[in-house]
Amino acid sequence: MSGALSRRAFSHPMIATAPGAVPNVDPSRLARFVDPLPLPIVARPVGRHAVPGDAGARVPLYRAAARAVSAKLHRDLPPTTVWSYGGTVPGVMFDTRSGEGLAVEWANELPVKHFLPIDHSLHGAEASLPEVRSVVHLHGAKTSPENDGYPEDWYVPGKSRTYYYPNEQDATLLWYHDHAMGINRLNIYAGLLGLHVIRDAKELDLGLPNGRYEIPLVIFDRDVRIDGQLSYPVAADPDHPWVPEAFGELQLVNGKAFPFVEVEPRKYRLRVLNAANGRFYRLSLPQGIDLYQIGGDQGLLAAPLAVKYVQLAPAERADLIVDFTAHRGSRVVLTSDSFDLMEFRVSDRAVVDPSVLPKSLRAVPRLPESSAVRTRRLTLDESQNLVAESTGMLLNKTPWHAPITEKPVLGTTEIWEFVNLTDDTHPIHLHLVRFQILDRRRFDGFQYMTEGTLRYLGPAMEPDDNEMGWKDTVRVNAKTVTRIIVPFVGYAGRYVWHCHILEHEDNEMMRPYEVVRE
Ligand code: C2O
Ligand code: CU
Ligand code: CU
Repeated sequence: MSGALSRRAFSHPMIATAPGAVPNVDPSRLARFVDPLPLPIVARPVGRHAVPGDAGARVPLYRAAARAVSAKLHRDLPPTTVWSYGGTVPGVMFDTRSGEGLAVEWANELPVKHFLPIDHSLHGAEASLPEVRSVVHLHGAKTSPENDGYPEDWYVPGKSRTYYYPNEQDATLLWYHDHAMGINRLNIYAGLLGLHVIRDAKELDLGLPNGRYEIPLVIFDRDVRIDGQLSYPVAADPDHPWVPEAFGELQLVNGKAFPFVEVEPRKYRLRVLNAANGRFYRLSLPQGIDLYQIGGDQGLLAAPLAVKYVQLAPAERADLIVDFTAHRGSRVVLTSDSFDLMEFRVSDRAVVDPSVLPKSLRAVPRLPESSAVRTRRLTLDESQNLVAESTGMLLNKTPWHAPITEKPVLGTTEIWEFVNLTDDTHPIHLHLVRFQILDRRRFDGFQYMTEGTLRYLGPAMEPDDNEMGWKDTVRVNAKTVTRIIVPFVGYAGRYVWHCHILEHEDNEMMRPYEVVRE
């Protein structure tokens, strides 16, 4: 470790994760806004790939290899070992068109030893299994089951899988990430994530800011030791290191702590992803700066919405337009609650801004409840006995390995009603599909747990205005019933649904489901 630097930069008491451990960096001691914001590298095809089951059809083939690499998270920190697709975290970005399929060879070229604390008592992470396993899921994609990255379809270093993505869906920002059973939280924390943008003709016609005026922002938190290495929290029992939540002290944007970006006094489009394991962000800009939300997880809203702040649970995305026109020569800091995230440096020179913020974006017809053929009531539960000394979470009181209970019929629409019996908000995500949020309603948790009956404590609340578009991840607030309406279209087969707090997902807050043919 570069001791001289660390002592100079951190001459104050620091937070330690465990007695005797190398202390973590105290972010309040790090210089603000000294590193330029990195932008993801756009992936380039390496060949052509024959589409399975479609004689003669060929699509561009990409290759992305997961490897251990070294990254600089901040000017004054020593290099950090991370796991990356393509050399950076976030990894290479796929910039694609709707209706134009592609294939990606996901190669596992990771070391055979993990560098983060595996909990072998978790289901699917037994000590008999190889330590390093990976499988890639494209979050939000309408993908056939064999290309979706089922958690048990992991493979070891030296192996690869080629997945086909038809991209037959509306323009939006998707993201890919590891999904290996029982160690997904560690693999993503290590850095196995990246962006996948889908564009379509309707969106391109809108005249939104594009090219260098469109900036992807991937936000996540990490704990970093003063020797530069990632640190992941552990519980006191060395046989059960799993912790129910991992919140890092250091907030990173596109893999840098407190970066800055130079912008012109004009409109920009910001494509934001919360890629944190468990942290929720509440993004805002200083008063007086015009911020509009134009889209969410699964594409554009019906119309732009002026917003003061944007709340994002893990895995949620926001498509934003910010207008710096009136802020020539000033510095604008993007924050989340009390955290500084990054700085926009607006240049002094007036520019012509040909981009537009249209009055309306695209039709998002609301699905009528009457289109649903059935309603499933599914609980989010706390369970005391899954892991010694810590509280675990379950979906519908059912562990991962129990037989599949949710079997929607292909082509039908269902209402899923999540009854949250816990004291936390859980971001619930379904693979394959997009859905709409119907409402949220507070209920009497005690009565539900003692008598099994629902007594509502207030009227049903409409989703927030910026949740009225298509979604793939929904915040299910504590002690509420949150209802979504889901058309199960695309493919039959086995998928998963889960909480996107990765510590929960890895410890039984994930279930398979199967889309069946009638
Ligand atoms: Cu972000 Cu199962 O996915
Ligand atoms: Cu997903
Ligand atoms: Cu959860």
